[in-house]
Amino acid sequence: MIEETLAPVIYLDHNATTPIAPEVADAMEPYMRTEYGNPSSDHVLGRRARLAVEEAREQVATLIGADPEEIVFTSGGTESNNMAIRGVAAMAPESRRRIVISAVEHPATTAPSALLEASGFLVTRLPIGRSGSLDLATAAAAIGDNVSLLSVMLAQNETGALMPVAELAAAARDRGAITHTDAAQAIGKIPVSIAELKVDLLSIAGHKFYGPKGVGALYIRRGTPLSPLVVGASQERGMRPGTENVAGIVGLGTAARLAVSRLMDDHLRIAKLRDDLWKALSTKISGVIRHTPKEACLPNTLLVSFPGVLGADVLARIPQLAASTGSACHAGEYAPNATLIALGAPLDVALGAVRLSLGRATTAGEMAKAAELLADAYQTTISTNSPGPNARKGNVSK
Ligand SMILES: Cc1ncc(COP(=O)(O)O)c(C=O)c1O
Repeated sequence: MIEETLAPVIYLDHNATTPIAPEVADAMEPYMRTEYGNPSSDHVLGRRARLAVEEAREQVATLIGADPEEIVFTSGGTESNNMAIRGVAAMAPESRRRIVISAVEHPATTAPSALLEASGFLVTRLPIGRSGSLDLATAAAAIGDNVSLLSVMLAQNETGALMPVAELAAAARDRGAITHTDAAQAIGKIPVSIAELKVDLLSIAGHKFYGPKGVGALYIRRGTPLSPLVVGASQERGMRPGTENVAGIVGLGTAARLAVSRLMDDHLRIAKLRDDLWKALSTKISGVIRHTPKEACLPNTLLVSFPGVLGADVLARIPQLAASTGSACHAGEYAPNATLIALGAPLDVALGAVRLSLGRATTAGEMAKAAELLADAYQTTISTNSPGPNARKGNVSK
């Protein structure tokens, strides 16, 4: 166990979470040590904490081109999605008890949607083609006048495919629906602009772009009818009461500032590394399938399937490589990658999935090494047809 912890790891699981940027940790530290005031307190420590929270709000707003008053801090992507979906549904008139989502949303969207379904809402799940994206005409036809909310993610967490959110939002707006996008995987990886998307609600998760875990934000366009999930005092304009997580919020703001300045450099460099990794893998492993689209995708994500094996068995042979299968393990049985099943992939292909997601610190040397390790582990797995010595549980969508 200790050995595993200390061994250098090639970290290719940035879609699950990113390391905290050093600048983020530095910015947060005073708020965990000396700047402990409650932002609602009317004394010097309270006022300094308030200033820090409001500066972070501006930084997050700048990242997406919003007004600071349109940003509400939350505990992350899950809470933001719940707030958007359940908050809109709570305000929906009788004539609009229907919501539209895509078939490949994260559980942070599917679970609140299922709750609404159980309470009598109609939930339409837009089908996604093998290309990873959805057909606009089919989607637009599904959005009727009885829809209160359209919620489609901006970038898919497993395949990295980008969804045509701006176009869908326009179609939904024409029908009088409110529009939400889960941008948890897109923020910090591609430019995200409210002016372009024109959505009413947008979810942000700090730990997906080098900020701290347990903090995020919901963009709420001014005037959007939304009921809060929790009630209490008046923090965050009553939309998310409770004493603010000041250190986390400062970290989120700093991560947003860094994302603005680094986005273009990171994008080009990381996309090239990802393409090199794919080239090396496809040369070394015959029959390996790429699910990440060639166009309209996140720069850092590569979802592949290894033929004839469980992705989890391949990864279990390489403890020095951190990646994900997107599968869950139930009672010793691996469930297939749920996104691939939703895309219509055959079961064996969905079971052979491995998601490799690169980040800011990923190097060319790591890509060459990762390809070599994966190819060797694949050959051993296919030739012995047995799980590796450290066979581990699959993991669900993150
Ligand atoms: C697309 C997407 N939405 C929502 C979430 C949930 O975010 P959080 O972990 O901040 O609750 C994640 C990450 O797990 C995600 O990938």
